[in-house]
Amino acid sequence: MHPFTYRDGVLCAESASLETIAQAVGTPCYVYSRAALTAAFQAYTSAFSDTPTLVCYAAKANSNLALLNLFARLGSGFDIVSGGELARVLAASGAPEQVVFSGVGKAAAEMRFALEHDILCFNVESASELERLNQVAGEVKKVAPVSFRVNPDVDAGTHPYISTGLKESKFGVPHRDARALYRRARQLPHVRIVGIDCHIGSQINELAPYVDALDRILELVVQLAADGIALEHIDLGGGLGIRYRDEEPPALSEYAQAIRNRMAGRSERLLLEPGRSLVGNGGLLLTRVEYLKHGETKHFVVVDAAMNDLLRPALYNAYHQVLTVREHQAATPEVYDVVGPVCESGDFLALDRTLAVAEGDLLAIMSAGAYGMSMSSNYNTRPRAAEVLADGTEWYVIRDREQVPDLFAREHLLP
Ligand code: LLP
Repeated sequence: MHPFTYRDGVLCAESASLETIAQAVGTPCYVYSRAALTAAFQAYTSAFSDTPTLVCYAAKANSNLALLNLFARLGSGFDIVSGGELARVLAASGAPEQVVFSGVGKAAAEMRFALEHDILCFNVESASELERLNQVAGEVKKVAPVSFRVNPDVDAGTHPYISTGLKESKFGVPHRDARALYRRARQLPHVRIVGIDCHIGSQINELAPYVDALDRILELVVQLAADGIALEHIDLGGGLGIRYRDEEPPALSEYAQAIRNRMAGRSERLLLEPGRSLVGNGGLLLTRVEYLKHGETKHFVVVDAAMNDLLRPALYNAYHQVLTVREHQAATPEVYDVVGPVCESGDFLALDRTLAVAEGDLLAIMSAGAYGMSMSSNYNTRPRAAEVLADGTEWYVIRDREQVPDLFAREHLLP
């Protein structure tokens, strides 16, 4: 499935020209493909069709209401990490009974909100959180469904900032403490044990860490069964990588096969929390070249998007492919850094790329559907970008560009 291809020399999102979109909406602008998002979701459901599975889209990857609503219509559940994300899921008609709530720092108010909406499960990440959840649930006269996020201590082999399953990580409870925590939970009147959970990291391109993590989790499931604690689901988190450049993440079929082999004969429902692999390659960031700048040792393409729009290159040194929207360019190719207007040396979108570009041209920063808009900020008082969803020959603005007055509307002058 190639959602972004050249037609008559112009890069298109499905059948819509990115030149037309840029003209109408302006730049910078995120553009997503409905068909790509749908195909990515359906790839999960078909890979796991013979195993009872609930895919809970990790809303943090891209939490635009239109995307959440698209996944909700496809039957997706949601993995959320804040009350704000739950509010978005509800506003997008997501089903609260298909929501799992992850995160190390759930506030009492967030717990209350989630309890009121009867979510599927709280993925509890510490002993203190368990006690607080029990108390809050008691106050609102509910019983909180819980699973523990267990840290299996496996190395996901990914960037340290997005690796979460190691002993030294702040996430999850240590594997060796889990059994005692389940016993404690069993004694609490306002929680009900429903599952077990792990999430070892993001942009994982090997199967082995998943298999190791699942094995570690299943060890515990067996021990819990011996303690008389039966679980309704096993949540393996998200993390499957995508191709940004030349990565070769496991095919979904291989990933599913490896999990199915180990789940064979088990009665628990499988939960998955994919984010990036559902939306990453279904979106791009459209930006216009403001200036070409020739330094003493480097050449720069200064574009109108910046690190506040797409933080991944600055934060993780992440690679995103850069395409010119016009396939054939008259300009002479040169090696450029693609940089934004923000006042930071780390404000780059791409380094050392050979591009044939002229001022005023449009560029597409590819694979930007995940952790692009959702990590954007207003740094340098830059209004956040517009978002567009392409759908065949149609396209829809799914978020208006912010306006400068929006950015200080909640600020106050001194009396
Ligand atoms: N479940 C939990 C508990 C998570 O913390 C995450 C991501 C996911 C699921 C979804 O993981 P995915 O399938 O998207 O890999 N900002 C970073 C990625 C941070 C991931 C945080 N947690 C980036 O841009 O690479």
